[in-house]
Amino acid sequence: MEYQSIQMSREGAIGRIQLYRPKVLNALNTGLISELVQALEAFDRDSTIRCILLTGGNRVFAAGADIGEMATATSAELMLSNQFADWDRLRRIKKPIVAAVVGYALGGGCELAMACDMIVAAENARFGQPEIDLGIIPGAGGTQRLTRAVGKARAMEIVLTGSPITAQEALHVGLVNRVVPVENVELEAMKLCQQIASKAPAAVQLAKESVLKSFDTTIADGLDYEQKLFYLLFSTEDQKEGMNAFVEKRKPHFQGK
Ligand code: HXC
Repeated sequence: MEYQSIQMSREGAIGRIQLYRPKVLNALNTGLISELVQALEAFDRDSTIRCILLTGGNRVFAAGADIGEMATATSAELMLSNQFADWDRLRRIKKPIVAAVVGYALGGGCELAMACDMIVAAENARFGQPEIDLGIIPGAGGTQRLTRAVGKARAMEIVLTGSPITAQEALHVGLVNRVVPVENVELEAMKLCQQIASKAPAAVQLAKESVLKSFDTTIADGLDYEQKLFYLLFSTEDQKEGMNAFVEKRKPHFQGK
């Protein structure tokens, strides 16, 4: 498959996707989002891929949705074209996605990073929801995922003022996992991916699903859900392998069975 606005490659069990619209700071037009979702779904279906790394490259993550594309849109057009259909598919990806963020992650760019499961940020990363300055509000999770990640007071400030936060602040409020020098971002993100890729794939997938479940259910239902997934993993060979390896004092060799 030939893509125009992303680049797709693999390194062992890690699938790598790079946003690639360098002239417009990786502005997310509908074509890019559509390609991104296709690439993510292809990795998700590929049993030899265990974790996905999403990067914008070494200058910028993404400066938001493509403003040129949206400028003349009407409410009806956006609504009837099901503007967010691809974004909705994005949250159905089952394998973990680690975002490597250098520079701006603004608007839809911040929302895309937050739709990933973990974020490794460069020291120069800036996270923000500047939609308010365009007379709109975030539309791809900026009022929801951000609030759950950083709490009401901080989310209100970011969304209502449009002012971005630094990588250090993002670390402090729990939006990102690590802050590292620009030149190490991809390496660190890759290390995280490799660590996850060495685990039992079914356990990884259900662990992601269970953590995400906690965002949209009650604690009682979430605990019940977790228990069912816990039971389910005892039907895998990797559970036997993991426990046998511990008893035999050796490293487990997980095979995704
Ligand atoms: C389209 C964009 C763009 C965007 C930058 N460009 N961001 N084009 N959509 N979101 C283009 C510029 O027009 C310019 O093109 C080129 O990229 C370089 O950008 P500059 O502005 O010259 O760079 P700089 O001075 O370094 O400023 C960087 C910046 C600024 C602070 C990130 O570009 C900026 O404020 N961008 C918009 C950020 C934003 O408002 N994002 C939210 C979008 S709304 P030319 O042709 O002039 O070289 C949104 C809603 C999400 O995301 C809804 C869900 C999908």
